[in-house]
Amino acid sequence: MGKSIVILGGGVIGLSCAFELQSRGHRVTLLEPASCGGQASGAAAGMLAPYSENLEGPDDFFRLCLDSLRLYPQWQQTIKQISKQTFEYTPSGSLYLAYHSADLLALEGRLLWQRQFGSSGSVMTGDELFRLEPLLSRDVLAALYTPEESHVYAPHYVSALEQACRLIGVNIQDRLEQIEIVEWKHEVLVRSAGRHYFNGDYLVVCSGAWAQELAQTFDMNIPVYPIRGQICAYESSKHPVKHMVFSSQGYLVGKENGTLVCGASEDVAGFDTSVTAKGIDRLKRWNHRVFPFLNDLEPFHRWAGLRPSTQDGFPLIGPISKSSRVTIAVGHYRNGILLSPVTAMLVADGIDGIQAATSIEAFSPERFERSLRI
Ligand code: FAD
Ligand code: GLY
Repeated sequence: MGKSIVILGGGVIGLSCAFELQSRGHRVTLLEPASCGGQASGAAAGMLAPYSENLEGPDDFFRLCLDSLRLYPQWQQTIKQISKQTFEYTPSGSLYLAYHSADLLALEGRLLWQRQFGSSGSVMTGDELFRLEPLLSRDVLAALYTPEESHVYAPHYVSALEQACRLIGVNIQDRLEQIEIVEWKHEVLVRSAGRHYFNGDYLVVCSGAWAQELAQTFDMNIPVYPIRGQICAYESSKHPVKHMVFSSQGYLVGKENGTLVCGASEDVAGFDTSVTAKGIDRLKRWNHRVFPFLNDLEPFHRWAGLRPSTQDGFPLIGPISKSSRVTIAVGHYRNGILLSPVTAMLVADGIDGIQAATSIEAFSPERFERSLRI
């Protein structure tokens, strides 16, 4: 029989969990203090880029990202069908640039291990590279080409997810003030201002960069911190960019609406989402070194979002030991859009008592308790 589930947070993670759980026959209520997608999820560049975002090697986090990338073709199609809304999903492939011969060895090394994990990539130089992306600066020496990576238009994807949730019957309560967990051990009871109560069998915490606020409630360490990403967009329909382009200093993604999205800073600024001249100027200086045509253009849009970062860089996904009624799904840092389908599957499998297809031990929300005890 379906269970009743309360989800805290209407970002991409909360909405994806809500969609998956309601689709499996549960009754989901999602509580959001502002508007769905109004925080990190609506600010994201939308890149689905596990190879380019994981430079170190094939660790558990990379494998999780790769599992999620592989879920995307079916997942995005389902969201479009159910929501009756469309959004950009472009299998563009990506280029990771090198400017110096000293960096070539690193590209070759990454290609070696990434090939063992499904990449059909190659290191490209000279005419071959400039045929692929003609507007690139001729200062670029080489690039690691990864055809498997893709991107979505994040604000539209999140809006479609919200609409899909509503159409299958998720009870979305947004603009709630003073959301407070009243009971979570023997049953789930959440209260908001005006003495509105929401009860359920299970609670799923998806409150992104704000998750640490619940550490006291659950009497556990939840080391999640906001890291601001400042980002901007140029109108560039006269200068089409075909691939996602990464450098050690940032990335540029050409969207099908003719904009070129360029990100992003990593600032420690608390919960401040202001955009600063310093942050955007640094991006602009690098953007010119990638695409010289940007010398003549100014970004028409600048914005910022708060990535939920964690102490060890891995998200927290899974139940807590103090109550099997509580599952946490937070801390997706730079990859929450990419990780949304796999997180939804893991959370729903956990609540359904199904052995997860992906190993989640490395993402246990309890791992910081263990390190405290050592
Ligand atoms: P959020 O979207 O922040 O949602 C959390 C929600 O919880 C918010 O709506 C908030 O109002 C709500 N909330 C807060 N407190 C409570 C409470 N007490 N009760 C209930 N609800 C609460 N990822 C990618 O995969 N690819 C990218 O290209 C990419 N680019 C990015 C670019 C930038 C500039 C930024 C900032 C992020 C980017 N990310 C990207 C990362 C991605 O945006 C995040 O990992 C993801 O959005 C996190 O989703 P979330 O649902 O956990 O958080
Ligand atoms: N994944 C891109 C970013 O977080 O800026």
